Amino acid sequence: MRKIVLSLILLATAPFVYSQPSDPNLGIIPAPQSVKITGGQFTFSRDAAIMYGNESDRKIAELFRDFLKDNYFLDLPVAKAFIKAPKAVINFTSITYEGLNPEGYTISIMPDQIQVSGRDAGLFYGMETLMQLLPLKKEAAPKIACAEIVDEPRYKYRGLHLDVGRHMFPVPFIKKYIDLIAQYKLNTFHWHLTEDQGWRIEIKKYPKLTQVGGFRDQTLIGHYHDQMPQIFDGTRYGGYYTQAEAKEVVAYAASKFVTVIPEIEMPGHSVAALAAYPQLGCGDDLAAFKVEQKWGVFHDIFCAGKDDTFKFLEDVLTEVMAIFPGEYIHIGGDEAPKTRWEKCKYCQKRIADNKLKNEHELQSYFIQRIERFVNLKGKKIIGWDEILEGGLAPNATVMSWRGVSGGIAAAKMKHDAIMTPGSHVYFDHYQGNPVQEPLAISGFTPLEQVYSYNPTPETLAAEYQKYIIGVQANVWTEYIKTPAHVEYMVVPRIMALSEVAWTLPHKKNYTQFASQRVPVHLARIDQTSTVYRVPVAIGAKDTTIITGRYLLDLTPPVKGAKIYYTIDGYTPKETDKVYENPVSIMVPYNEKRVVKTLVVTPSGKRSAVTTTIISNLSPLLAINPQVRLNQGIKYYYVPGEFNLAASVDPGRAEEEGVVSQINLDKGKDKVRSRSYGMVFSGYINISRPGIYTFSTRSDDGSQLLIDDMMVVDNDGRHTSFEVTGAVNLAAGIHKIQVRSFQLGGSAGLKVFMGHAGSPKTEIPETILFY
Ligand code: ACM
Ligand code: ZN
Repeated sequence: MRKIVLSLILLATAPFVYSQPSDPNLGIIPAPQSVKITGGQFTFSRDAAIMYGNESDRKIAELFRDFLKDNYFLDLPVAKAFIKAPKAVINFTSITYEGLNPEGYTISIMPDQIQVSGRDAGLFYGMETLMQLLPLKKEAAPKIACAEIVDEPRYKYRGLHLDVGRHMFPVPFIKKYIDLIAQYKLNTFHWHLTEDQGWRIEIKKYPKLTQVGGFRDQTLIGHYHDQMPQIFDGTRYGGYYTQAEAKEVVAYAASKFVTVIPEIEMPGHSVAALAAYPQLGCGDDLAAFKVEQKWGVFHDIFCAGKDDTFKFLEDVLTEVMAIFPGEYIHIGGDEAPKTRWEKCKYCQKRIADNKLKNEHELQSYFIQRIERFVNLKGKKIIGWDEILEGGLAPNATVMSWRGVSGGIAAAKMKHDAIMTPGSHVYFDHYQGNPVQEPLAISGFTPLEQVYSYNPTPETLAAEYQKYIIGVQANVWTEYIKTPAHVEYMVVPRIMALSEVAWTLPHKKNYTQFASQRVPVHLARIDQTSTVYRVPVAIGAKDTTIITGRYLLDLTPPVKGAKIYYTIDGYTPKETDKVYENPVSIMVPYNEKRVVKTLVVTPSGKRSAVTTTIISNLSPLLAINPQVRLNQGIKYYYVPGEFNLAASVDPGRAEEEGVVSQINLDKGKDKVRSRSYGMVFSGYINISRPGIYTFSTRSDDGSQLLIDDMMVVDNDGRHTSFEVTGAVNLAAGIHKIQVRSFQLGGSAGLKVFMGHAGSPKTEIPETILFY
């Protein structure tokens, strides 16, 4: 009985039933500033027609016609006026638009008419929104709910970047990337065209830039630190975009109201250019530079002392500015070591002649000299936040990537700033547990982290906030070799970026975004050739839950996808149970269950597998060690190459000792092998009984055991990643063991605990004993 009443209420309050009931944003990403559902519906039938206001609006009306034809079998006529009034009209017009924001639009959907109003970009965005309102199912006479939408962007700069220096992507893919940018109402494509590993834009005056600088003899295999010495693929790699191709990209982008900002890196990240023209390096003893074959920051950069460098760069920029009509040229400026400049007689003479204090001021001289040239041509420069060092060029816009402080500093100097911090919008970072993801540089920036970002720092005084002109996500491609992989890294994070860039903070709601709108958008993308990362089932968590009865309550992250699950600890497959309705999992006293889930989309794409341990084990009793305990914890250092923390045997330790806390910091004073295992073993004093969470953040793998029971399994070879578990503990002394291993590259281990809702901290040294 209760069930029936409930569904009646739902029906009565649902404004319409064929799209996204109860979705206040009607499925639109980015969420518009205002949506009012007015009742009734509009039907796209064969009797409908498409109209436009001014001649300049026609293009957009035609784009919408093509969309209906391609997706809903409807071929509607397009005209400025019809002799016989059509039964239903979809009108795209700039005439009626009254908003002030050039990218704003309104949509009025009535039962017999849709009016989309906006000018140029605004009208285009109105059309993009209208497209998103149509149902997922490609039916013949699609219907949409009547509504009034008023919309405009929060920020005027909304960017997505792509590095084509490390790996290159063909022009058709660049266009597809621009489609994605436009679809999510971003307006800037930052094309990172030059790198140490490849110069990718044809410069007619300097043909060797692409003939020589466009190709590297081979490329590093695997992760930077995977093996020492590093190994290479022995395969020549490279290519470049001709100026004609670049112009084609610019024109294509303009048709989607996307501006392309080219980046020509200086003074650093320029080894490919030096390989082509070594005389532009420091000093006279010019080594034969080679286009770089591995990643990183290199000492060889453009010489700031030679006038030839500036002549060269001005020539290059002159050709570049002729291709890219936008107001900005990005000149890089990041990661330029000053070691060569310190030793170069030309650079030192420049410093002396110009009474500069040091090499930072020389970089500032470099950038300012280039800025003057660019400004003279009527354009402005953008640089990474290093251009603040040694003095900011007078008219430069700063792109803040090493956190947000560069952006804040620039804004306080009344310079425009674009926020692109690694903490929130580096799309080359991992989206999930690295052991289940394609190889990435490092980091962990999941969808929710991107979504949570507010580009205008609350700490920035109101008078300076207007200088934060927008936000951008960056896609560096050291580890991204294919278009499919680029798409995987960008979708769905671009949806979160879109809402960060467009929607006012009070209109944002992550739960509503991730559970109602993203699943529909991904289902639409699932019907295309675009690759994307399938999120894990909504409601599935990688953690331990202490309970005797657990309600497995899941929602597909992609509409129409199936969720498979197991409760036996085995990895789910398509042959396992399909999740249909919430399932109550009963766990008898003193037992546990391991629930795993897998999502498979209609096109066959698979998510990562989640693992939730449901534990109804009795509290672990305190032990009574028959020895006197001392403050601290024992460590066992075991040199050697391990792939699993589980296989590190403290019995084979080469060194052991006592430290106050469980981490690798204390070992920093010792010269460690680049590959080793480290085990910490001792006791932990629990003062209050209850459920404790523990987590390890480690690079590479780690495990945490309490009283010989696995509580955190963060094993496997990976970059820094945190995994959480939980355990029910009686008060008193318990055994604790943390095993970890480190295989090449950077090392890290931190161990945290939390109790009764208090924030987690590193395990305090006061409760560790041996
Ligand atoms: C950067 O990530 N080096 C700007
Ligand atoms: Zn020099």
